[in-house]
Amino acid sequence: MIVAPSILASKKETLIEGTSTLFSFGAKWVHIDIMDGIFVPNTTFKPDVVESLKKGVPGMFRDVHLMVVDVAKQIPEFALAGAESITFHFEACKDEDEVFSYIKTIHNLGLKAGLSLKPNTKAEALLPYLKDIDLVLVMSVEPGFGGQKFMESSLPKIAFFDQYRKDNQLNYQIEVDGGINQETGEKCAKEGVDILVAGSYLYGKEDANNRIKELLKL
Ligand code: DX5
Ligand code: ZN
Repeated sequence: MIVAPSILASKKETLIEGTSTLFSFGAKWVHIDIMDGIFVPNTTFKPDVVESLKKGVPGMFRDVHLMVVDVAKQIPEFALAGAESITFHFEACKDEDEVFSYIKTIHNLGLKAGLSLKPNTKAEALLPYLKDIDLVLVMSVEPGFGGQKFMESSLPKIAFFDQYRKDNQLNYQIEVDGGINQETGEKCAKEGVDILVAGSYLYGKEDANNRIKELLKL
């Protein structure tokens, strides 16, 4: 299992120090939530946060999750800042061509391309793109805020994407985001997830070392 702490749950002042500690405990990815106040009500980080993570925790894989409407503008900015994968939302695109064009732009920049879906979007909606992407990000809460309750409806979606890649010899990774802890992480692992994003379960927690060790075993 790959564990990806979500910096949304970090205090600003201790972002590098705290993230670096979680990395030393075995969390290999860092999950960076970008919100524009339009696609979701909240706003979060600018590309400079990716630059500081690249500098401050260089070995950690920088996983950018765009919750924005202007995907075209944000992709090059985050690529330049040092993202290693960029995931955008299916719901931010008006048609199939738009989805394919972003996948192509991300690949041309040499990065992993991820596609995410909100809790109310059916897994089947991503079928046309699965052979072209590197990562599927299943949202297990409504995007916008940390600390929400895990939605069980994400479990059959993870199972669907896992079965589909087996049946079609595809090798995209499956990531789940929202409300992840030991109990919900275990449920997702059973359905075939590869990457667990966890924010409030890890940042600022005294027993984060143990929490990460247990998640890594799943
Ligand atoms: C929600 C974000 C998540 C969030 C997860 O829109 O995409 O990455 O930080 O936070 P927790 O783990 O606290 O639910
Ligand atoms: Zn996220």
